[in-house]
Amino acid sequence: MAFPQSFLDELLARSDIVDVVGSYVQLTRKGTNLFGLCPFHSEKTGSFSVAPDKQMYYCFGCKKGGGVVNFIMEEENLSFPDAVRFLAKRAGMEVPEEQGDRDAGRRRARLLELNREAARFYYQLLQQPEGRAVRDYLERRQIRKATAVNFGMGASLNAWDVLLTAMMKKGYTKTELLDAGLVVQNKKGGLYDKFRNRLMLPVIDTRGDVVAFGSRVLDQSEPKYMNSSETPIYSKRRVLYGLNLAKKSKRPNIILCEGNLDIVTLHQAGFDNAVASMGTALTVEQTRLLSRFTKELVLCYDNDNAGKTATERALQILNGSEFSVKVLQLPRRQTENGELVKQDADDFIKFQGPNAFERLLRGSENGIEFRMAQVAAKYDLNSDEARVAYCAEISSLLASLPGAVEREVYSNRAAELAHITPDAMKVEVQRARKRLTARENRAELRRELNPAAKNQPQERSLRYNNIRSAMAEEGVLRLLLLDASLFPAELPLTEEQFSSPLLGKVFSSFWQAKCEGRDVSLAALSGALSAEEMNHMAAVCQKPESVQRGKQALEDYIRVIHTEYQRRTGGATDPLLAATEKYKDKKGEKRNV
Ligand code: CTP
Ligand code: MN
Repeated sequence: MAFPQSFLDELLARSDIVDVVGSYVQLTRKGTNLFGLCPFHSEKTGSFSVAPDKQMYYCFGCKKGGGVVNFIMEEENLSFPDAVRFLAKRAGMEVPEEQGDRDAGRRRARLLELNREAARFYYQLLQQPEGRAVRDYLERRQIRKATAVNFGMGASLNAWDVLLTAMMKKGYTKTELLDAGLVVQNKKGGLYDKFRNRLMLPVIDTRGDVVAFGSRVLDQSEPKYMNSSETPIYSKRRVLYGLNLAKKSKRPNIILCEGNLDIVTLHQAGFDNAVASMGTALTVEQTRLLSRFTKELVLCYDNDNAGKTATERALQILNGSEFSVKVLQLPRRQTENGELVKQDADDFIKFQGPNAFERLLRGSENGIEFRMAQVAAKYDLNSDEARVAYCAEISSLLASLPGAVEREVYSNRAAELAHITPDAMKVEVQRARKRLTARENRAELRRELNPAAKNQPQERSLRYNNIRSAMAEEGVLRLLLLDASLFPAELPLTEEQFSSPLLGKVFSSFWQAKCEGRDVSLAALSGALSAEEMNHMAAVCQKPESVQRGKQALEDYIRVIHTEYQRRTGGATDPLLAATEKYKDKKGEKRNV
């Protein structure tokens, strides 16, 4: 992949970072920069900054940064070439494509088309006589025809190659069928349908593309669920089952469940805001996706141990996020013989009905209540010993709450539960809070006492091994970015004199841009640097630097880099000099050494 430089330069000129970022993040101007809530991590106060003069963004919280192309890569989950295409479309520019890229794009489009055809095929089978077994299964699970249609459900048959044959007849190749994960290969190399005799549940993304399939057996056999493997068009971390429908819901929140059929039942019962992570833990990518559609999440995992662990993990991921998070705990169900059994959302709707679910939804606890209940459940609060232990544990949980009112309200509740006075609990929480702040302060102090560590890149592999030189190298790059008129007439440094290979590489490309009369910018390097390298360059770029007396500052930096280079190499020949000498040689002039 290589887009012509002139095309990229024009694309950047037409994609102002404030416009582009501004359509995703609400930005407020503060001085020369703009600030907003970071879209890449969860936060309540804005540490995400956009610098229009440098055409860069940088988050002081999660330390991600880059130019406009990097932003689109992160935000839209796109590769560099796809992000470029995305921006080109936005700017109304035609993309000069190379053959290889056109092929990759076409391959993806073919796979999506194949999945759609397969979904259509399974869907039609469900309506036909052969689909009888699956139709009966839907009836057993009380899934209505209209619901099945709404989810695009289908049937795969109890046979080895019906899909394979049908799709090949439509012109899809064996490789394409394998790539889409619709067929699998046996040891002898023969191909057969992956999904057989199952209820088919197409997984549709928010754009409406069929990216994968989930499927369920019709009886007790294993595996109960079988899903598409990861393919070029499917990454399970980035998709939520049912979000294609839930994103259109008028309800104010989104309900997160574990299972596909929980979602189906909930939608059928009028809760069209339910989505499922399909048996995997909630990922950061999924929360980012959700944040486009809602500000409030309701966790509704199964009420067994696995479900509780999943809830705790999800709460951790969402901790400190701008989402308001609630936990809907499904009660256990009493069977006819008095036994208490676990139930999921699907069971609950079937046994207790939608109104009861609506009540649970309205009364669902917030995250802290859930966590407090988890702690309380560990102790038998009738014993004094256990009450003391409970107070110790609950006070450190309460101490971590950011708001004073919140701390007081929940401390009182905990005191009541443990049968101690609110005052005693208050003292405990205050002590826990002091310990917490002391620990945070110590960590902060350690960072401050060690400025070298503070200046090191986040990413280990980019670590500087000569901080003094690296600081000067950063300074050189910042000055040249801020004021291109500072470029000396002759090359003042070679790439190898930089102690940091990354900074050296960036310097070389700045120099090249300058020689070719192009704009010097970091944003233009999006294609040449990795995400980690770009994050670091954005961090370097946002550090303060004054262009007043810039010429002098630049000379000072360069001198430091030269000295450090001499020291490292034990006084080896200045490569710059050597380069000039070689140049002279070529010209046929006499060497004067
Ligand atoms: N799952 C999976 N593979 C399995 C089991 C489960 O991918 N072998 C995923 C499915 O997406 C499933 C979810 O995990 O929907 C929850 O699993 P489970 O609680 O076992 O199933 P239920 O949704 O309750 O399934 P059902 O009601 O159909 O029995
Ligand atoms: Mn179930």
